[in-house]
Amino acid sequence: MASLSTGEMEQDINESSMVKPSKRKEVSSPIYVGREDDIKKRQRKTAIVHDRQVVIFYHGEHFYALDCRCYHAGGPLDLGEIEDINGQPCIICPFHKYKITLNTGEGLYQAINPKEPSAVPKWKSKGVKQRTHRVTVDNGNVYVTLSDLLEYKESDYYA
Ligand code: FES
Repeated sequence: MASLSTGEMEQDINESSMVKPSKRKEVSSPIYVGREDDIKKRQRKTAIVHDRQVVIFYHGEHFYALDCRCYHAGGPLDLGEIEDINGQPCIICPFHKYKITLNTGEGLYQAINPKEPSAVPKWKSKGVKQRTHRVTVDNGNVYVTLSDLLEYKESDYYA
């Protein structure tokens, strides 16, 4: 099996979303989500992984998996467009156009430094907001393994 994507960063821990130790092993098992050639052809697919709705993207010869509902207000990321921003593939949420990196789940925004004379907007990160998951491919089958649910991410609210 080959590991293809993941992303992590710490946020405040929300106790209501924490997974009890006895459930951790269960939710850490990979779940089959489809055939490799089918997802490559469609370039995206939603799946339920341990009761969690996940979207799997195939973009730029890589698989990515994220929580399907946007961390901002639950927008359906499976219906968004993908754009490259600063060399990073991002999903653009169809609701309010938030930009989320596919690889790490970081929220990106543009900012200007008013003290700079040119005041050219630059892309900045809000940190990891959207939970990403691990995608593996084995013998033409694609699997998703949920990331560690003990670390709270804002998208957990809608998952
Ligand atoms: S719900 Fe995604 S940007 Fe608002």
